[in-house]
Amino acid sequence: MTKTNIVLVGFMGSGKSLTSKKLSGILNRPAISTDDLIARREGRAITDIFRDSGEAYFRKVEKEVVEEVSGQKGIILDCGGGVVLDSENMVNLKKNGLVFYLSAPPERIYNNIKGQKHRPLLNVEDPRAEISELLESRKPYYEKADVIIDADKPIDQIAEDILEVIKNE
Ligand code: S3P
Repeated sequence: MTKTNIVLVGFMGSGKSLTSKKLSGILNRPAISTDDLIARREGRAITDIFRDSGEAYFRKVEKEVVEEVSGQKGIILDCGGGVVLDSENMVNLKKNGLVFYLSAPPERIYNNIKGQKHRPLLNVEDPRAEISELLESRKPYYEKADVIIDADKPIDQIAEDILEVIKNE
């Protein structure tokens, strides 16, 4: 495989970050997270950005970050779960990258995120219901990815499945 970026999209808690780190170790390529870039640029955590400046502001910064980072080559990019909602983000991500949707069922997502507090959209009374609803409404956007990967399996296996796809790139 050449310098095509490996871009991971999918719902919060679907294993993007762990898969990204795993692939980074195997392929010896940098793993970059859009959320990390946003937090660094803003000098504050994602929850603080949502709380103090609102989601629309977060999406604006996210879009700028996506545009910039998409210009790089040879990276593994772990994207925030809502990145797919903006069609221009998808165009940018696909410029130098192959976009993988890590598709996980709601129950697995819930198990992965329960007890965590750094995701403002899931800090609600009934996170289980919120996951199901949001996942359903976002599905058509996630499915615009180049490749859909079944993420209801161990991280090592998810990484293997992605490697299998890119080996002929
Ligand atoms: C979001 C997902 C989060 C983060 C923000 C919004 C979303 O990233 O970007 O809280 O809209 O799905 P992760 O998918 O890495 O949790």
